[in-house]
Amino acid sequence: MNCAGFETTAAVIRIAAFHIYSNPDILQKLRAELAAAPNHEWKTLEQPPYLTSIVMEAMRLAPAIATRSARIAQDKDIVYADWRILAGTPVGMTLHLLHRNEEQYPEPQRFNPETFVPFGKGKCNCIGMHLAWAEIYLLLGHMASRFELKFPKTKAEDFYVNMDNFALGTPSMGVVPALVTEVTA
Ligand code: HEM
Repeated sequence: MNCAGFETTAAVIRIAAFHIYSNPDILQKLRAELAAAPNHEWKTLEQPPYLTSIVMEAMRLAPAIATRSARIAQDKDIVYADWRILAGTPVGMTLHLLHRNEEQYPEPQRFNPETFVPFGKGKCNCIGMHLAWAEIYLLLGHMASRFELKFPKTKAEDFYVNMDNFALGTPSMGVVPALVTEVTA
């Protein structure tokens, strides 16, 4: 499975960084929260609610896999609304479509920090979940405290999903050039 390890986590960090630094209110609120944290170790960084909301929202918009996750209920029928799905029938849904459901998210493409978890559930769920959490929290926490980023060539539409490459295909193709400087006191 392509998901194993780098592009998934990188995509979450890219889209989070772009929106944090493109929205002064988000950056200011995040820095205030980070400044109040006793240190920037992983376990500490998981506590602040605003950073967690940012991570969740980045995962809503960059949920790793565009392709359907297939499942089969082997020994019992599943009832959904007016439908009965017989045991043994393959079913599937994409995280990408679920995360952009307009009934739940009236402006599905807008980066608006709130909660969602895209690692799948059950016996095939993501084994890299805890590594991914650690990478994302540590990188975003340290980056927002210590660096200024500008994205002169990138716009929000560059992260819109336009291809199913098993992973999420976007116009940026994962290339998001940034100008980086250190935060001055
Ligand atoms: C933000 C980061 C990540 C996201 C959103 C993510 C998401 C997912 C999803 C949705 C699945 C399929 C789950 C299902 O079918 O129900 C999956 C499977 C998997 N992921 Fe990740 N993943 C991430 C990072 C990682 C990392 C860092 C690793 C390894 C170091 C990893 C390794 C795997 C493996 C091996 C599977 C296949 C599990 C199986 O089929 O038994 N993932 N991931």
